[in-house]
Amino acid sequence: FNVPPAVNEPVLNYGPRSVERAALKAALEAARSQQVDIPMYIGADEVRTGNLKELRPPHDHKHLLGTFHFGDKSHVNAAIDAALAAKADWENLPWEQRAAIFLKAADLVAGPYRATINAATMLGQSKNAYQAEIDAACEFVDFLRFNVQYMTEIYQQQPPVSGKGIWNRVEQRPLEGFVFALTPFNFTAIAGNLPASAAMMGNVVVWKPADTQVYAANVIMQIFKEAGVPPGVINLIYADGPEVGEVVFNHPDFAGIHFTGSTGVFQNIWQTIGTNIHKYKTYPRIVGETGGKDFVLAHPSANADVVAVALLRGAFEYQGQKCSAASRAYIPASLWPAVKEHMVREMATFKMGPTEDFENFINAVISEVSFDKLAKYIDDAKADDSVELIAGGNYDKSQGWFIEPTVIKVDDPFYVTMCTELFGPVLSVYVYEDDQFEQIMDTIDKTSIYALTGSIISQDRYAIAQATQRLRNAAGNFYVNDKPTGAVVGQQPFGGARGSGTNDKAGSMINLLRWVSPRTIKETF
Ligand code: SER
Repeated sequence: FNVPPAVNEPVLNYGPRSVERAALKAALEAARSQQVDIPMYIGADEVRTGNLKELRPPHDHKHLLGTFHFGDKSHVNAAIDAALAAKADWENLPWEQRAAIFLKAADLVAGPYRATINAATMLGQSKNAYQAEIDAACEFVDFLRFNVQYMTEIYQQQPPVSGKGIWNRVEQRPLEGFVFALTPFNFTAIAGNLPASAAMMGNVVVWKPADTQVYAANVIMQIFKEAGVPPGVINLIYADGPEVGEVVFNHPDFAGIHFTGSTGVFQNIWQTIGTNIHKYKTYPRIVGETGGKDFVLAHPSANADVVAVALLRGAFEYQGQKCSAASRAYIPASLWPAVKEHMVREMATFKMGPTEDFENFINAVISEVSFDKLAKYIDDAKADDSVELIAGGNYDKSQGWFIEPTVIKVDDPFYVTMCTELFGPVLSVYVYEDDQFEQIMDTIDKTSIYALTGSIISQDRYAIAQATQRLRNAAGNFYVNDKPTGAVVGQQPFGGARGSGTNDKAGSMINLLRWVSPRTIKETF
């Protein structure tokens, strides 16, 4: 039984006179002029509580995009009930039927909804057109199509040996209970993938997105519904995190969490699950991708331009708000002047502003909380004599949460910004002596509390080999001569260990296997 082989969705070019840009502009204008009223989706119902929260573009916080209806514990309970009520029909549906639904969802994203979901991501999360396209369109489509392919492989995998008079087989059952998906603001694709991948494997899901991503989450839900996900299979709720947690993690039918977000929140969740473990019917699956403090290490043999481009793109695309973003760099002294010159020259050309103006490479950070936190780190760095400001360092919140891309050079490789995840457009650089390459790898490993992504930039094959080996536990995605961002589904399975998560590689068979509970059947004739 074969599904169409998955191929990566091509990235469209939104050039000045392209039809794609015209369609996207029309979608942006339509979205800006209409005030959406976003309900929760529980079972077959659209639930409006009247407890309204506002949605505003991070780059234009005076403009109201719409509102969404905030729930409370009763809605979390209702969503769990709706999920459990939908469970029997959903899990007994032949898996090819589930595959068809998610393949249709992929086609809807790639086609009729492409401009809408990109526009929602541009307005709600302040991504420029390219960043929205590679996320909300391409990566989301890739997650859906590749996961359907992996799913078919999982269902067809059988034990290799059945002896004489024996037939051994394995059945992949959905988990017993419901799955809770808790999704982040920074990738629309991840917000869609976390509920979809669990649902695809026959599970029912309660989904709570970040409040700052509700605008595009609502579009994702429209797509799921139109594709034919039955009522109750994926329930979308908005409520206070701790309140949701109190209901979900005390429920006997809680069977797993699919999480992307901060390390602190994930650790608290893990602890709560541990405390409540005796309450559950089954050991819940805990799958999470959390923080990152991702490095770029340049070897003295590296090409300075390659280093500078990896840093500029890795650190500043989407304002550094990717868990994979390059946020610390280790540059040999001999290379630093050329790398610095290239970066400063290029950064002077960066345009910053609203996403609706396609010239802007840099847009706003997600929220005032994030803005204030980043501004404080920048101020502290500017006030510190051991830190040199190389570029940027300004910020302005009068129109939107704008933080200028900032590069600082630190004297101490253990300086706070070399070890702490900032989640914004602030890059810290440590310049090491050329003959200290081995020592600097030790320092990188020691400061890798997180271990999500990292890069080695080098033209020396021995140095590449050495870094690949020495830093093997410092990154779950390791890049040679490239930026550490932009993993492509089906090409670079994504995830890290240590403080970065359970490393169950988003968009891979490893991940999908967490959403099934195999039953082995031995039949003797
Ligand atoms: N997959 C994204 C990247 O590699 C991060 O989530 O940049």
